[in-house]
Order: sequence, then structure tokens, then C-alpha cells
Amino acid sequence: MSSGFAAVDVIRVKRDGGVLSDAQIDWVMDAYTRGVVADEQMSALAMAILLNGMTGPEIARWTAAMIASGERLDLSAVRRPTVDKHSTGGVGDKITLPLTPLVAACGAAVPQLSGRGLGHTGGTLDKLESIPGWRAALRNDEFIAQLGDVGAVICAAGAGLAPADRKLYALRDVTGTVEAIPLIASSIMSKKIAEGTGALVLDVKVGSGAFMKSVDQARELARTMVELGGAHGVRTVALLTDMSTPLGLAIGNAVEVTESVEVLAGGGPADVVELTLALAREMLDAAGLPDADPEAALRDGRAMDSWRAMIRAQGGDPDAPMPTAPEVEVVRAERDGHVAAVDAYAMGVAAWRLGAGRARKEDPVSVPAGVVLHKRPGDPVRAGDALYELRAEDPSRIPAALAEASRAVHIAPTAPAATPLVIERIG
Ligand code: URA
Repeated sequence: MSSGFAAVDVIRVKRDGGVLSDAQIDWVMDAYTRGVVADEQMSALAMAILLNGMTGPEIARWTAAMIASGERLDLSAVRRPTVDKHSTGGVGDKITLPLTPLVAACGAAVPQLSGRGLGHTGGTLDKLESIPGWRAALRNDEFIAQLGDVGAVICAAGAGLAPADRKLYALRDVTGTVEAIPLIASSIMSKKIAEGTGALVLDVKVGSGAFMKSVDQARELARTMVELGGAHGVRTVALLTDMSTPLGLAIGNAVEVTESVEVLAGGGPADVVELTLALAREMLDAAGLPDADPEAALRDGRAMDSWRAMIRAQGGDPDAPMPTAPEVEVVRAERDGHVAAVDAYAMGVAAWRLGAGRARKEDPVSVPAGVVLHKRPGDPVRAGDALYELRAEDPSRIPAALAEASRAVHIAPTAPAATPLVIERIG
């Protein structure tokens, strides 16, 4: 490892719009992970990166240095092609839940290391923890064994994987430096590459409920990540998908598990089914299984069998009823018309205010809290029809959630023009 740098000199290079050398990047990442570079120095560097950007080679080296800060899993013992999916995060985005067992049912192995929610977007682990007995923490040997036996694992990333990212992400969260494309791309890809997957499909969300508010930004993030994956031998493709409106009808934890199980049973909302199948096809293609038929696996129960095996392998009871919320407030339309919009960000904040999400990473989440939509954009409504319901354990949470949710829903005399769910493919 290179030595002899001063953190302040590295910060000055980026502050003045320069390009960091490989040796500077390797040093600063290693020194930060070991606590030699202080949080305030890394914060200044992250802000300089946010303001001045990074070149392609700088991003590649930064990502490699984050991977090198921890272990890289070896999945070669798994006798199936491995392929994972990562979503940049959205509202009602439960796609990982049906997608992982579905792709496993079609012959690939899906090593899905997931996170918890923070702010208005939910976390896959929080959702699955609604299932009694289900356990998010697996040792590396348990993870690899389940991947071989069941083909599907969704669990928490171990502390040994890209520890530099873990530290840096917490710092970015409190210093206004999350929204830098080089930092987001390197953060996501360092974890996915370290997890050892052979192929990766990225679901890059665009719209009010996403990090990336414009297609141009999302495209730049997607291209950056696709290049990083390729440079590390991971076949990577990205879909840009709409996140201006929530996915499906359910936003929360238990309610999203229930909706995912409906999809696995061959039903569920059309948009959730469409995106699950679009991502499954990309994953199976990237895994070298282009002839697999995920639609048939949903229809004939193989995907459901794979889900049940995955949940059981981690101690969960797939037959346990989901907890229900004692407080339910149904909101009705005041006039006739069409639903013109259901804003993803405002609905995400409403679910968060009901207790489905957390403000600080130590906070617990409420299992049954959330929003269930009765209407989606484009649907006709009559005055008095139920538009959505708010569910909470604590009635004092309803008014603030109602204020957000009522800002989210717009009724207009005519239906809005239909917009595509999958906007673009990059790969
Ligand atoms: N998710 C991550 O893992 N990292 C980011 O920087 C943003 C989203």
C-alpha cells in the first residue's frame, strides 16, 4: 500500500478540480478504513467529489479500492450460474421478493445481499422481517450453502464486505454527499462485485420517488455502473424504470410481502408483474439461460415453491399470517374523474410517517404500517370511491401521513397519457 500522502493534499487536488492518482486513491481509502484519515477529512473529499466529479479511471480505481478494503466472496462452489439484481431504490419497490425465487426457479442462483430502509424508501430486509422467524443474518458458509441448495438467498451483507463503503455511506448520509454519481456508482458496485456474482442487472429508478430525478442523470449513473461491472468481469446491464408513481398498490413492510406472494401465486398488480418479468428475463439472459420461461414459472407454481423453500431455509414460516394494523383510515374521492397522479415521493413519506420506515438507522420499523392504494394513475373514480388507506399501529401517526398522502393524489377530468414502466435498456 502506498504511503506518504497527507489527506489535506488529496482533498486540495479534488477541491481544485484535479484528478487523483491511483496511489492517492488507494492510500486515502485504506487510511480512511483504518481510521487514519478522519471523518471530517473524508467529508471534505466527498463534497469535493460531489462538486467536481471524477473521471472514469478515477471511479474505477475508487471502486477497486473499496472492494479491496474487505473480502470478495468466492461463489465457484455453486453449481449454477449466479446473477443478482440491484435497484437504486423506490417506493413500493418489493420486486426483489418475487424476483429472487422466480429466477432461482428458472435455473440460476441469486445471491441477493440487501439492506434496510432509510428515509422514504423501504428496505428489503425490513419487509422480509415481517415473516415470523425469518432471519436476515447468515454466515458466509450458510449463504453459499443455501445458494447451492435452494438457489435463492436474500440476506444482510456481512461486515466483511466493502467495509470502506459502509463507513463512507454513513458519512455521506449526514454530510449531504449521497447524491454524487461517482460515489453512488462505486458504493453500489463495490458491494455487488465483492459479493461474487457472475452477472448483475441494475434497476435504475427515475422520478420523484428515486435518487435520480431525470432520465439524463439516471442514464449517466447506469452507464457508469455498467462499465464498472464489465471492468471487474461481472456481466452488467441496466434498465431505467419509472419511479414517479409507487410500484404496485402496497407501500410498507408486511403489506409488500403480501403483494409479493400474490405475484408468486400468479396474480398481483400488473406493473409489479411486468417489472418482475422484465428483470427476470434480463437476469436469465445475463446468466446464460436465455431459453428459460419465467412467465411459466409464475403460472405453474415453481416460483412459489422456490419462495417457500427460501423463506424456510432462513427460519421463516411461509404460511404464517401477516400482522394487521389496528388503525386503518380509508380516504375517499371527493369528486368524479380520473386519477391523474399518485406521487411516489409523497406516498413514500406518508408510509414512513405511519411507521413503515425509519428516521435513524437504529430505529425499529412497524411491521403492519403502510399505505394500500385502491386506485392507480389512469383509473376512473366516482365521488365516494376509496382512493387509498393508511394503516398504523399508533393512531397519532395518521394526521401527518394524511397530509403527505393527500398531496400525492391528483384527480383530473380526463385520464393522463400512459407512460412506459421500462424507459430504456443500457448494456
Ligand atoms: N445505495 C448504495 O448502496 N449506495 C449509494 O451510494 C446509494 C444507494
